Amino acid sequence: MRRELAEAAVDLAAYLKGLDDSLAEPVPGGAAGAAPAPSLAAASSPARPPEPAMREERPADMDALAAQVRGCRKCGLGHARLKAVFGVGSCKARVVFVGEGPGFQEDHQGEPFVGRSGQLLDKILETVLGLKRADVYIANIVKCHPMKNPETPEAHGNDRPPTPEEISACRPYLDEQLRFIRPACIVTLGSVATKVLLGTEKGISLVRGRAYDYPVELFGPGHPIKVVPTYHPAALLRNPNLKRDTWEDMKLLKSLLDAAK
Ligand code: URA
Repeated sequence: MRRELAEAAVDLAAYLKGLDDSLAEPVPGGAAGAAPAPSLAAASSPARPPEPAMREERPADMDALAAQVRGCRKCGLGHARLKAVFGVGSCKARVVFVGEGPGFQEDHQGEPFVGRSGQLLDKILETVLGLKRADVYIANIVKCHPMKNPETPEAHGNDRPPTPEEISACRPYLDEQLRFIRPACIVTLGSVATKVLLGTEKGISLVRGRAYDYPVELFGPGHPIKVVPTYHPAALLRNPNLKRDTWEDMKLLKSLLDAAK
């Protein structure tokens, strides 16, 4: 027991050190602060959100779905964005990380989490889970960049959270992605993704620290996907004190992935 604790302390110290480089500069703006979290590890479900329906023809595979997303103009974001940001990683991934929506860098490159938040996410994946970005799947709730001023996609500081209308227009695409991947776990990054996927009004600091059943039964009763909510990497960049809780959440994820093997 003592040895396990000592090993865990070494792990945590290595993780904190590994993340330090990414935490040198503060990031403006931002997500929720820390609060004490419940320590329960058992899975349970909060209120079930209504299951959104695909309004277009069901795509045959992930490539067909990506083509649908690239052609999507269901909300204003599709008209203003530079590139649709569909998702990246392995279609056989056992865990899917879900963020809020693309920012400036992602809009330019067409890939989720490629800015400073993404670099930090990559480090967390590697140091705690021993995984590379190519081993997991990374996507967002909305696939196009929500901009304060849609006329200026080249401007920095133009990000805003997606509106409820934009979220409900885009939400069915994520469930289609999950159907193709069939992951054991989803990690929701930050309050927006957590609220949308768990159908809760509670902020991330109150919800994190335990696992839930994904309220949408994509694979029938008795085959839930486990949801592990954690802080958005941008929140860690602003507040390094959140790194410890994130480490706990990733350890919880690891135990769920190990148990689902
Ligand atoms: N933040 C997100 O929520 N998603 C991204 O893809 C990048 C930053």
